[in-house]
Amino acid sequence: MCGIVGYVGKNCCADILVDALSKLEYRGYDSAGIAVFTENGIQITKSKGRLADLSAKMNAEGKPQGTVGIGHTRWATHGEPSDTNSHPHRGGANVTIVHNGIIENYKQLKEFLIAQGRSFVSETDTEVMAQLLDFYYDGNPVQTIARAMQEVSGSFALGILFTDFPGTIYAVRRESPLIVGVGEAESFIASDVPAILKYTAQYYLLEHDEIAVLTEQGVSFCDMQANTIRKELLTADWDMDAAEKQGYEHFMLKEIHEQPESIKRTVMPRVENGLPDLHECGITPETLRQFRNIYIVACGTAMHAGMVGKYVIEKLARVPVIVDIASEFRYREPLIGEGDLIIIISQSGETADSLAAMRLAKKLGAKTLAVVNAKGSSVAREADMLIYTHAGPEIAVASTKAYMVQISVMYLFAFELALAKGQIDEAECRRLTALLMETPQYITDILAHKETVEAMAKPLLDAESLLYIGRGLDYALSMEGSLKLKEISYIHSEAYAAGELKHGTISLIYKGMPVIAVDTQKKLHEKTVSNIKEVKARGAVTFLVCGESYQPDSDIADYCFRLPEIDDLLMPMLAVVPLQLIAYYAAVQRGNDVDKPRNLAKSVTVE
Ligand code: AGP
Repeated sequence: MCGIVGYVGKNCCADILVDALSKLEYRGYDSAGIAVFTENGIQITKSKGRLADLSAKMNAEGKPQGTVGIGHTRWATHGEPSDTNSHPHRGGANVTIVHNGIIENYKQLKEFLIAQGRSFVSETDTEVMAQLLDFYYDGNPVQTIARAMQEVSGSFALGILFTDFPGTIYAVRRESPLIVGVGEAESFIASDVPAILKYTAQYYLLEHDEIAVLTEQGVSFCDMQANTIRKELLTADWDMDAAEKQGYEHFMLKEIHEQPESIKRTVMPRVENGLPDLHECGITPETLRQFRNIYIVACGTAMHAGMVGKYVIEKLARVPVIVDIASEFRYREPLIGEGDLIIIISQSGETADSLAAMRLAKKLGAKTLAVVNAKGSSVAREADMLIYTHAGPEIAVASTKAYMVQISVMYLFAFELALAKGQIDEAECRRLTALLMETPQYITDILAHKETVEAMAKPLLDAESLLYIGRGLDYALSMEGSLKLKEISYIHSEAYAAGELKHGTISLIYKGMPVIAVDTQKKLHEKTVSNIKEVKARGAVTFLVCGESYQPDSDIADYCFRLPEIDDLLMPMLAVVPLQLIAYYAAVQRGNDVDKPRNLAKSVTVE
């Protein structure tokens, strides 16, 4: 998604803006630009491509000299990636803006503005917003913003320069996140904390329909009626190290290695006397006993974490769980209401589909529980109950450690629910909780053998298509393994329930087709082995991820990664690690940009 930054202070603004934008690269972008107040007015430099292209252009054209400005990385929605469509955009003589999100009614507004004699140079909804602000400009920026905001719909955040106010940045948000950082005689706007961490850890969260005014003297906030708002100053609880690669080749590899610590940070504070204790998150045995049905609603990897949650909750607590893709849930008139619990899982807490699903669930009378990584995000703030996952900042677009802590929370929740519902006794709950707390050590051991996985990924160099298969929890894992591979290696892959293959998909198997089989569930082992034999007999090259007690013959596995064994129920915590690594190494050897895969954005704030 697009990234916004802004700087007001005493230092060279262009350098700071580009540096801050580099910390938002993980969000995904296809062009970048900055606008700086200079002696000769606002100077805009923008370019299709990477920040390096922008810097090259600035070097060629002359770096804008000034100490106040805004910057942007664009992830194209309205109009192709091009210099012209890149931000910042001017709206006549008075206004220059950067924008994240969507102006939903931009077409009508554009028609209105054209009827007023205005013309446009880009295809973007952003330029429409810039022109609208310029159209309403009356010499008072706050009043102008408030007036224009009455006319627009959608979810968006804006950084705005008014030509007549050279020392000031204005910012406003509706839904899309925006923070305002404060340092010594300098202040910042940014879409996310990593952009400003090098300069300050202190920031304010701009709320829905609030306006921020930043000058060298400080920052102030007001609502749409220009009433002053006092806000709580927050301190980022992670430092620059968390947002740097620290010697790893990619953020993704670093984040895979951070998983043991992330689990400890997420699980340990929620265990009391050996039992899960989620009361600080608003969850008690009494609340848990009220729920008849559970829906887990999320997108992508977070939805796959929900799939693991479904298996574990249903098995232990005997409560029916439906897992829904958030973008589908909203539009299928879901049969939910009082007595139902909707669990929204989201790393960013800003995913538009997940947020909308949660709002719908609330409206229908269900209780909502958010499992979120990003502090203070929209999903976190609006849910009835909240469990923060403590993965720390996840920079790589491909989610790894966030998934790990999401499933850790699914386990904790399932254990407490099962105990509250009387489906397991305290001793069993203690045993499972203790095992969960042991998983970080097992994962560390698995990571010590990552070269084995690297070797396994070698045959995937020229693969065009492959399948992941598994049964039960291994099927849920296969879905995540397949998504990971697709998003960063660009190899087509599908996840299939192993027993379902013979109902059609097995016709796709050709000699040499790679099939990755996940086989960690002892009860299903014989069945899964039969399915592996079926694909092997048709020429597939098989890659097996299984428990260490299984010694497969060559008629089962061409390549094998054997995992330490704990209770089958917890095997996803371990088995996902080689799947993440296979995807990682396949992408690296294909020369892909692992942390910023093509076409993808870290946080998807559009529908
Ligand atoms: C994961 O690797 C993906 N990049 C993506 O599927 C992601 O999990 C999804 O967009 C949901 O994001 P969220 O957790 O921030 O809501």
